[in-house]
Amino acid sequence: MSAIAVDRLSHVYAGAEGGVPALEDITIGVEAGKFVVIVGPSGCGKTSLLMMLAGLRHQTEGTILCAGKPISEPDPERVGVVFQEASLFPWLTALDNVEFPLALRGAPRDDRRRRAEEMLSLVGLDGFGGRYPHELSGGMKQRVSIARGLVQDPPVLLMDEPFAALDEQTRMTMGHELLRIWSTTRKTVVFITHSLTEAVYLADEVLVMSARPGRIIDRIEVTLPRPRTYEMMATDTFGQLRERIWQQIRKAP
Ligand SMILES: Nc1ncnc2c1ncn2[C@@H]1O[C@H](COP(=O)(O)OP(=O)(O)OP(=O)(O)O)[C@@H](O)[C@H]1O
Ligand SMILES: [Mg+2]
Repeated sequence: MSAIAVDRLSHVYAGAEGGVPALEDITIGVEAGKFVVIVGPSGCGKTSLLMMLAGLRHQTEGTILCAGKPISEPDPERVGVVFQEASLFPWLTALDNVEFPLALRGAPRDDRRRRAEEMLSLVGLDGFGGRYPHELSGGMKQRVSIARGLVQDPPVLLMDEPFAALDEQTRMTMGHELLRIWSTTRKTVVFITHSLTEAVYLADEVLVMSARPGRIIDRIEVTLPRPRTYEMMATDTFGQLRERIWQQIRKAP
């Protein structure tokens, strides 16, 4: 069974003249434990698709199954989400931010504290639990967001340009860190990015979308071995994969 199965999904946003067609005939299957990256021109519907996978928005047509069951509303125990902006509560410490989804669910205080501390440790923030968001760097805030997305141990993690606001060096480090976290937790990850280098570095498979209304126009298997290393970026295979994605995006109608 696929961890995620999207079948003939289309979406039209309500509006003048029959509305805005945003997504068209999307069919995707993601096996459990895979790292899938979605790329495509701005406005092609990537975020819309991710919101639907998270149960935050409803498609006009087609179905989404997560481990065989529909996702009709947000369910952080099945699907965790990390957005581009860290979207942490500024009045809560890092630890309290990570704990927040568990507190909402009424989990016992000691349990949720222990779990949140484990997650902060997993993302490399041991000792930073007492800091407030304004006392953390951009990369650290994104680590807290990742910890929060993982705190309920969902089998699926959705990430919408999580590192887009970071400088290039921090971004590379965060990508590498994410692969480390992924390899220890074995989540199924769907990751959106505009960076083709990031796409190739992270993915098992890259899905390329066309301009709006977004369709899947190419699926590229990334055959580079794991664990990935920075040196791989200089290889011919890496360059060829990156080029193929770029050619697809460039000619995307
Ligand atoms: N709530 C909404 N109501 C109406 N139209 C919307 C809404 N959200 C998005 N759209 C439209 O749907 C299309 C896809 O938007 P979406 O944000 O999914 O694109 P995207 O691929 O994530 O873009 P980017 O790469 O810039 O983040 C755009 O044309 C956008 O204007
Ligand atoms: Mg977007």
